[in-house]
Amino acid sequence: MLVLLKSNYEELSREAGRIVASAVRNNPAATLGLATGSTTIGMYKELVRMHTENGLDFSKVATFNLDEYLGLAADHPQSFHRFMRENFFDHVNVDPAKIHIPDGTFGGDYEEYCLSYERAIREARGIDLQILGIGRNGHIGFNEPTSSFGSRTRLKVLTNETIEDNRKFFSAEEEMPQCAITMGIGTILEAKRILLLATGSAKAETVAEAIEGPITASVTASCLQLHPDVTFVIDEAAGVRLKQRDYYRRVMEMTARFTPNRLS
Ligand code: GLP
Repeated sequence: MLVLLKSNYEELSREAGRIVASAVRNNPAATLGLATGSTTIGMYKELVRMHTENGLDFSKVATFNLDEYLGLAADHPQSFHRFMRENFFDHVNVDPAKIHIPDGTFGGDYEEYCLSYERAIREARGIDLQILGIGRNGHIGFNEPTSSFGSRTRLKVLTNETIEDNRKFFSAEEEMPQCAITMGIGTILEAKRILLLATGSAKAETVAEAIEGPITASVTASCLQLHPDVTFVIDEAAGVRLKQRDYYRRVMEMTARFTPNRLS
């Protein structure tokens, strides 16, 4: 597990963009697992900049988003479909046929629908690089506390905490979605490489629990301790509760010196 401590959000975003760009350059047909949330916006900006200025090519990439609110149509201002279009897809050359985001308006057999999402990931030969943010309660995707570490893509009921955290994005009179379709913890852990981004003091407690706390379904991001290739990119404010900060800095220095490929 690599913990990259960055001094602020801009640096964090640049580093995350650099890692994703390098994955795409090394494998132009990479399958990317994508996340939404305000934390990821700077990274997408950086990728858009690299596409516009340096010709970073996404034409062969396939993408799978982690989750979508149940009940929100793709053009709803708060839908993750819309987020992805506005922050990324509208500005780069990802082939629309290769973009996958759970359909929030699906109304049939959810189990079958979620199985088909898993099938599509397998048909794309699995996720090469999975991007994650983290919820204040330690969730990744919408895998709320107590989600099974074996869980797959499924319908998930949101906790009150998550609903409250996200209420600010919805208009006052609007009803907040109570459920989402999300990749499971088991799905996420099958990605070959995982990158988790966290910024700001509101995430400091949960980031420390995820990295240094016990592995527990009560903080689902702690499952990442089981994965062989995870990089956390964290800014100062989100990292203040980490006890081993000095050690992570030394690991970064030594990794850059002896095994720089791990940082690319
Ligand atoms: C939502 C998403 C998560 C994301 C989280 C954090 O809950 N389902 O994937 O990590 O928001 O969002 P933010 O980056 O805005 O704090």
